[in-house]
Amino acid sequence: MKYVFLLVLGCVGAAAGLMGAVIAYRWVHDMTQTPRILAGERIFSMPAGVVPRGGEAVIPREQRDAAAKVPNPLKASPESIAIGRARFGTFCTPCHGPEAKGGVSGPVATKFIPPPDLTNGDLQRQRTDGYWHSYIVVGGAVMPAYGEAVSSQEAWHIVNYLRSLRAGGAARTAAKP
Ligand code: HEC
Repeated sequence: MKYVFLLVLGCVGAAAGLMGAVIAYRWVHDMTQTPRILAGERIFSMPAGVVPRGGEAVIPREQRDAAAKVPNPLKASPESIAIGRARFGTFCTPCHGPEAKGGVSGPVATKFIPPPDLTNGDLQRQRTDGYWHSYIVVGGAVMPAYGEAVSSQEAWHIVNYLRSLRAGGAARTAAKP
């Protein structure tokens, strides 16, 4: 009888020990088992009924025609052009060169696919402000998107600055869409 009791006690002890070990194992490994999503792994669509607070709708690159029709909300004031010049100097000169001539100056421009001369009067006439704004925000064929670096507002300032560079002077006479 005594042995049966000891055997049962042993079994209960072993079961308790096993459970304890399982709990301890899970405790220690809890964090490595947590479902996690790495940066850039997935893009979540907004749940239905979500109301945006602030921000601006970004028109995707595939809908450039629609983006081209968006009017420039900012006046090309000297202040606006100054902000645009500063942002251009920070983000765009490596490829477009300090004069926005494209492919002739700048550390990257001379070795990379040469970007077009943005001061060119014909190109300036062809493109609307909205088209260039879209180019800055969502990028082009090769050109990277700058929507993360500059705000939509700043992108309009840059467009105003580019318009001020138009060869032959006369800023802001872009063709209407
Ligand atoms: C990594 C190099 C690179 C950088 C940086 C860059 N661009 Fe570009 N950009 C290009 C290339 C290359 C093109 C030619 C079109 C294409 O292949 O995307 C281009 C084209 C353009 C065009 C002409 C689009 C058209 O066809 O009318 C504009 C406007 C422009 N860039 C503005 C900017 C502005 C503003 C910035 C800074 C916010 C900038 N780019 C930064 C490489 C660059």
